[in-house]
Amino acid sequence: MADITIQRDQTPAQLLAQIDTLLDAADPPLTLMANLASLLYWSLDAVNWVGFYLLDDRMLRLGPFHGKPACTAIALGHGVCGTAAEERRVLNVPDVLLFPGHIACDATSRSELVIPMIVQDQTGTSAGETPDDLPRQEGRLIGVLDLDSPTPGRFDQETQELIVRASALLLSRCGSRDVFTA
Ligand code: SME
Repeated sequence: MADITIQRDQTPAQLLAQIDTLLDAADPPLTLMANLASLLYWSLDAVNWVGFYLLDDRMLRLGPFHGKPACTAIALGHGVCGTAAEERRVLNVPDVLLFPGHIACDATSRSELVIPMIVQDQTGTSAGETPDDLPRQEGRLIGVLDLDSPTPGRFDQETQELIVRASALLLSRCGSRDVFTA
């Protein structure tokens, strides 16, 4: 594996380049997610949880993550994660205390960013080329990438764009493989 040096003062472009190097398409999806969660957790300031919830029927199940132990199952439409998944759009919540139904896995979390992960199996825009959070994306929902912060309003536009791009890069490396198969 390429040597990965953790630096908290990297530009988004530098961090994306690291992610690009880290995520080897030869690795299974769960492995890719585990390393991406770790790299984001250690590289971003003021982040206390980074991880994945993966769709199994209509339930999001806890996947690879970095941070404290978290709730293991979230129904579609529930909490920030379940809402982002059901509505298939990025949810950037500057104050989770004001989000109705927010699920508090860690009482110190104050803001949250959730990116739905949607695989484009058909022709059209490939997952790896999706530049921005689209209002509502079509395709096969496989789960969400979730980031929490103890700082209100932590996830500015630049950070959101970085995480959307990181998620798209991950999806492109996962391809059409089943995320539950190691
Ligand atoms: N706060 C999330 C639950 C997951 S934890 O943040 C890890 C939610 O409301 O869906």
